[in-house]
Amino acid sequence: MTLTLLAMPGNEAQANALAARLGCAVMLPQMRRFPDGETYLRLEGPVTQNAAIVCTLDRPDAKFLPLVFAADTLRDLGARRVGLVAPYLSYMRQDTRFQAGEAVTSKSFAHRVSDSFDWMVTVDPHLHRYRSASEIYSIPVSVLHAGPLLAQWIAAHVNAPVLIGPDSESVQWVSAVAANLNAPFTVLEKVRKGDREVEVRIKDSQILETGRQAVIVDDILSSGRTMLEAVKLAKRAGAPSPICLAIHAVFAEGAEQPLTAQGARIVTADTIAHPTNAIAVAGLLADAIRASVAA
Ligand code: R5P
Repeated sequence: MTLTLLAMPGNEAQANALAARLGCAVMLPQMRRFPDGETYLRLEGPVTQNAAIVCTLDRPDAKFLPLVFAADTLRDLGARRVGLVAPYLSYMRQDTRFQAGEAVTSKSFAHRVSDSFDWMVTVDPHLHRYRSASEIYSIPVSVLHAGPLLAQWIAAHVNAPVLIGPDSESVQWVSAVAANLNAPFTVLEKVRKGDREVEVRIKDSQILETGRQAVIVDDILSSGRTMLEAVKLAKRAGAPSPICLAIHAVFAEGAEQPLTAQGARIVTADTIAHPTNAIAVAGLLADAIRASVAA
């Protein structure tokens, strides 16, 4: 297809996988920091009327301004519509004012993205208090679901799984995957006491005493504390070596080691590049990009 597909730094592998499916080339920006910390950005080569930027949005603060510059530059160079392919969409968890005076960053971020792009494609954004991305994004957003891909991975690699959702918000992912596999599942009760402090409880621990392979399914693995507490609980309940299956491998510093120290195997989708990636989302993304460009 005729599309200028720009890969922001760190997104080259995903962009190459998409380009192979879409039949277009990948444009790489020249980017560097000036001594004062400002961004230098240059785009070389022809720009078509339709353009898209591939930029997953973990650690978004450093990425966002260069992303806006890139979108503006594509328009200056001839693009009439510029889309954002953000396999991971950040700032979805601060979706309400938990304490007086707090910034509802999900809304502010959505406004800024909507100002710079004509459409967006993303995978399983953390929709909790918002029922759909369109509640805060004013541009068309294709929300893709990795659940069937997670289910395929489990079907291919795990014999007799029992699925665990680590908190009430995970019901949407774990129930869909369990239904796909016709496997039993349970959802834990989680209390978050701080950024890196969570507690989990189980109501029906007998489900983990059946000899089935426990697979903990969550959308985001960030500090890793949710997964860690779920792993410890599963082990106490009789499931010796749980698998941690997450869509978005955010991995805050120090998140991985405590999990591997517990003997957990970690598997993630490649919405964020990480050594634990084992599930490719390019097929999902490519179909949605085609539809967004054609719309
Ligand atoms: C929360 O509601 C999400 O679904 C994840 O459980 C959470 O974001 C994981 O965060 P962490 O790895 O920091 O515990």
